[in-house]
Amino acid sequence: MYTIRQQMETRATLLEGGPLAAKIKQEVKTEIEEMVRAYGAGPRLATVLVGDDPASAVYVGNKIRACQEVGIRSEHHALPASTTTTELLDLIASLNARDDVDGILTQLPLPAEIEERAIIEAIDPRKDVDGFHPVNVGNLALGRPAFVPCTPAGIIELLVHNDVEIRGARACVVGRSQIVGRPMAQLLLQRDATVTICHSRTRDLPPVTREADLLIVAIGRTGMIRGEHVKPGATVIDVGMNKVTDPDQVRELFGAEADKRLAVLSKRGSTLVGDVHPAEVAQVAGKLTPVPGGVGLLTVAMLMKNTLKAAKLRCSESG
Ligand code: GUN
Repeated sequence: MYTIRQQMETRATLLEGGPLAAKIKQEVKTEIEEMVRAYGAGPRLATVLVGDDPASAVYVGNKIRACQEVGIRSEHHALPASTTTTELLDLIASLNARDDVDGILTQLPLPAEIEERAIIEAIDPRKDVDGFHPVNVGNLALGRPAFVPCTPAGIIELLVHNDVEIRGARACVVGRSQIVGRPMAQLLLQRDATVTICHSRTRDLPPVTREADLLIVAIGRTGMIRGEHVKPGATVIDVGMNKVTDPDQVRELFGAEADKRLAVLSKRGSTLVGDVHPAEVAQVAGKLTPVPGGVGLLTVAMLMKNTLKAAKLRCSESG
């Protein structure tokens, strides 16, 4: 009995992304309504999707839906997988030149034949609502005003909103991607955390991650971070979004709480799981983001915020 009570008491609090994402979107919506009253038009976001990757199509769909919710005009450019780098560069150039387009989002990854770097670098940094252009990456690294990638920006908002102390904390970022890991480390450093970055070549990971008060995981490997990686009471942010289709794996990952996930699996053929082992880490962490329902919702909300910021910046430049 004592053991059961003790386990229940040590279960991590879930840091849900939904309520904060709704709050951010509501704030953006209110500002856009004011903008429309003052200038007659709100921001416009151009989304670009190349090829037919189903996950990317879902992500872009979520972004377009969020635009509708907050009053951002969106236009979608769906291009075939056979699109060439030159054709995509032409589209980007035309979107850069248009005064009525405030933000440009090219969903990544692009098909292997397209030069991703050339595309990212072609986007006008003032319209780069993803914050991937080297000008924005550089400004972020220098601690100057920049467009900040949406996922790490959303994670900072989530930590602040939930009173998780960043200043002086030991933070460990697992993953060194341009989209999440690197900008995440920069943002934590800016807020005075002591930051360690781990990656696929890090030797003997558990003792390193176990040092962290704040553990942020973005590696794209289902349930890789186990109880042994986590300092008791730490805040764990799970950025992973992996599809699991095997019922046995679902049982292993969710333990006593597998039933709900198995129901999702039988209905949809898969269920989303993060990079963190949910059942194990919930027994050790103090706070944990769920997947789905955690960081992903904030990414979209921050894209809305960045698009509004782009419109305001361009408005103040031209006004
Ligand atoms: N692919 C995965 N995450 C992102 C993101 O935040 N922005 C874009 N453009 N592509 C992505």
